[in-house]
Amino acid sequence: MHTTGMTSPRGVWWKPAHRSEKVWFAIAFAWCMVLFAMMPLWHLKGGQNPTGIRHRVEPADYRARVNEFIAEYQVGDEAGVPVVEPPPGSDVYLVGMMWQWRPILRLQAGAEYTLHLSSVDVNHGFNLYPFNVNFQVVPGYDYGLEVTPTEAGEFHIVCNEFCGVGHHLMVGRVIVYDGPATATAEGTQAAPDGSGDDLITAGGAR
Ligand code: CUA
Repeated sequence: MHTTGMTSPRGVWWKPAHRSEKVWFAIAFAWCMVLFAMMPLWHLKGGQNPTGIRHRVEPADYRARVNEFIAEYQVGDEAGVPVVEPPPGSDVYLVGMMWQWRPILRLQAGAEYTLHLSSVDVNHGFNLYPFNVNFQVVPGYDYGLEVTPTEAGEFHIVCNEFCGVGHHLMVGRVIVYDGPATATAEGTQAAPDGSGDDLITAGGAR
């Protein structure tokens, strides 16, 4: 029958599904259950899907907190973006906005920090390049993660959530320096394997 927008096609939903369709449905459903089970499994066993501290926060308040953080620990400036070196063990505030990450962070290898992520406009995606470390950065939520940088070097933060015309320009930086703390924790430093599992250890809520 000729089908146009005016005439609906003949319905067949009441006819029994073919056997192959049922088999595929069963396979797809079973796989869904496997993937569903992986979520808690990755959290408990795989060192992924970390839980964090989640708070509601007004974007203006978060912006103010970031500015306070910058004012307190700023050590430099690169093309208008402040470079901030917070003391080990402290709370670190990073904000995503169209289209930059503020501030540039200088962190000590082997030291533990609570990294706070939030946005002041739209959804952004935190991706620590070149590692497979990804988090959503959502306006209205302060997402706190316990992180320990294990490897010195310069890393980029790439936005991996499309956020407008400047999305591809939204690149931030994390500089991890070898400090005195790493001299005593040499055995804990991990080589990069591309997975990011060893680069940061993200723990649960405090
Ligand atoms: Cu921010 Cu894409």
